[in-house]
Amino acid sequence: MHILSVADDMVPAARGDEASTLMAGKIMASLFFEPSTRTRLSFAAAMNRLGGRVIGFARPGGTSLQKGETLADTIRTVESYCDLIAMRHPQEGSARMAAEFAEVPVINGGDGAGHHPTQCLLDLFTIQKERGDIGDNKVALIGDLKYGRTVHSLAYALALFKADLTFIAPEQLQMPHEVVEECQEHGASISFETDLDAAIEDVDVMYVTRIQKERFPDPEEYKKVAGIYTIDTDLLRHAKSEAIVMHPLPRVYEISAEVDDTSAAAYFRQAFNGVPVRMALISLVAGVIS
Ligand code: NCD
Repeated sequence: MHILSVADDMVPAARGDEASTLMAGKIMASLFFEPSTRTRLSFAAAMNRLGGRVIGFARPGGTSLQKGETLADTIRTVESYCDLIAMRHPQEGSARMAAEFAEVPVINGGDGAGHHPTQCLLDLFTIQKERGDIGDNKVALIGDLKYGRTVHSLAYALALFKADLTFIAPEQLQMPHEVVEECQEHGASISFETDLDAAIEDVDVMYVTRIQKERFPDPEEYKKVAGIYTIDTDLLRHAKSEAIVMHPLPRVYEISAEVDDTSAAAYFRQAFNGVPVRMALISLVAGVIS
């Protein structure tokens, strides 16, 4: 909640309406071993808006990883060039491991099918802004709940707020048991559905995710579920009039373009929120504010 409150104060600087020098003289290394648009660029925008500088790479090609260097050695080297590291890597647990090797703070920008904690913070910030409250919502997490890292992190967080959760996914892409169990231990009420139309009537927040094609061991299995759920204006007619649609993006088949012009569409505002939230997080982990 503190990070979200600091993020709120960062909004004018995130928009460029005010200038910040909180991170002046500091360098953030942005190490992206996996594709990214929003996470990488909003981290960079956040650091720039704070008056800091960014070094790094957007793909591992062109670095010594191609020569066989280990992640541990890359991290030990890079940390001597910067004050903090933001990284994304295909391996689950990679950011945690990097944090053990590094003296500087390491922020996880997504570790394989594991977690995406900074996305989770901007998702919470978005729910709070759009709905006025976090816990007092019925939230449907929709799509690839097995491989989608954003929904693993968000489910944990919403459980702490005792939100009412519905997990809508094809059987083979339902939420991993360990995530479900931990959410239940925190007191979340959870229901499971496969049919989108039947489940969205009383939902306040529809959090839609892409089927994570790149994580399927068998491409044939992906084909069976590709395009399984689509939010369109017809479907929204069955939803609550004040319900919002969120998506971490990129979208493929999950939300038709016609939804973009409705008041329900929160996903581009959500993408912007990545900047103030990451500004808050960077400043707090760097210790320039508390
Ligand atoms: C997500 C990711 O990379 O996990 N995107 C993001 O960071 N905003 C979702 C996805 O790739 O489907």
